[in-house]
Amino acid sequence: MKPASSIVQAFPTPGQAAMPRKRNIIAIASGKGGVGKTWFSITLAHAMAKAGKRALLFDGDLGLANVDVQLGITPERDLASVIAGEATLTQAATRFDGGFDIIAGRSGSGGLATLSPNRLLALRSELHLLAENYDWVVLDLGAGIERTVRLLTAHCRACLVITTDEPTSITDAYAYIKVTAMEQLAGGIQIVVNMVSNQREGERVYGTLLRACREFLKFEPPLAGIIRRDDHVKDSIRRQTSLLTRHPGSEAASDVEAIFQRLDHAL
Ligand SMILES: Nc1ncnc2c1ncn2[C@@H]1O[C@H](COP(=O)(O)OP(=O)(O)OP(=O)(O)O)[C@@H](O)[C@H]1O
Ligand SMILES: [Mg+2]
Repeated sequence: MKPASSIVQAFPTPGQAAMPRKRNIIAIASGKGGVGKTWFSITLAHAMAKAGKRALLFDGDLGLANVDVQLGITPERDLASVIAGEATLTQAATRFDGGFDIIAGRSGSGGLATLSPNRLLALRSELHLLAENYDWVVLDLGAGIERTVRLLTAHCRACLVITTDEPTSITDAYAYIKVTAMEQLAGGIQIVVNMVSNQREGERVYGTLLRACREFLKFEPPLAGIIRRDDHVKDSIRRQTSLLTRHPGSEAASDVEAIFQRLDHAL
C-alpha cells in the first residue's frame, strides 16, 4: 500500500486530481455556524447504513472537527495521523457501530487547519479515490466559504446547504450559494431547512431563500427537506450517541431518513 506521506507527490497539481467514475460525495455546508451540519451529517450517514448502503462520513471541518466528539469515539487513527504520514486515508476509516465508516478529524489540530493548497488537493484526491469503495460519502464541512471549504466542496455530487429560520442563517446560506454557484463548485446545490417547528415554517424559510436565488442568481436550488426542531437531538448529542440509535423513531430522525430516501432516489 502507498505510504500516506506520498499522497502529495502522487497528486502534485490540481489538474491531475483523480476523479471517481461516478461521483457519490454529498457535501454538507452552511454559511453560518451552528446550524446542525455535523449532527445532520452523522444522522444522514447512519440513515444510509440503515438502508443497507456502504457509507463513509468524512469530517472535513479541518480546524474544528467534532464528529468524534458528537459520537464519543476516539479513533486510533484520524486525519491528523494521515497528515503526519502515520496512516493512509483508507487506514484512517474507522467502522462505527452504526454500520458506517468515519474518517475523523482532530479538533484544534493546527496542522489540519493550515494545510497548504497542494496538500488539501492531495487529500481531496485521496478521498475521491476512497469514495469508490462506498455507495455514498458524506462530507461534513466547516461553516462559511473560506478556502478549505471551497476546495473540499468542489466536484461533489451534491451540496446540501443547511439553514435555520434565523435571518443571519438565511443570509449566510445565500452568500454561500452565491459563491458556490458563481464558481461552479458543487454539482447540485440543494437546501435543507433545520430546526423549524413545522413543515409550513420550513417552506416559508425555503421560499425566502429561493426568492433571493431566483432574483439575483437566476437559479433555483431545490429543497432537499425540512427537519423539525426536536429535543431528542440535544439529548443524543449530550449522550454522545447517534440519534438513530438513541431515538430512532423521533421526528428529526424520520425527517433525515426521508431526506436520504429522496436523495438516494433522485441523485
Ligand atoms: N433538528 C434539531 N433540533 C434541535 N436541536 C438541533 C437540531 N439540529 C441541531 N440542533 C442543535 O444545534 C447544535 C449545533 O449542531 P452542530 O454542531 O451539528 O452544528 P454545526 O453546523 O456542525 O456547527 P459548526 O458550524 O460549529 O460546525 C447541536 O448541538 C444541537 O443542540
Ligand atoms: Mg460542525
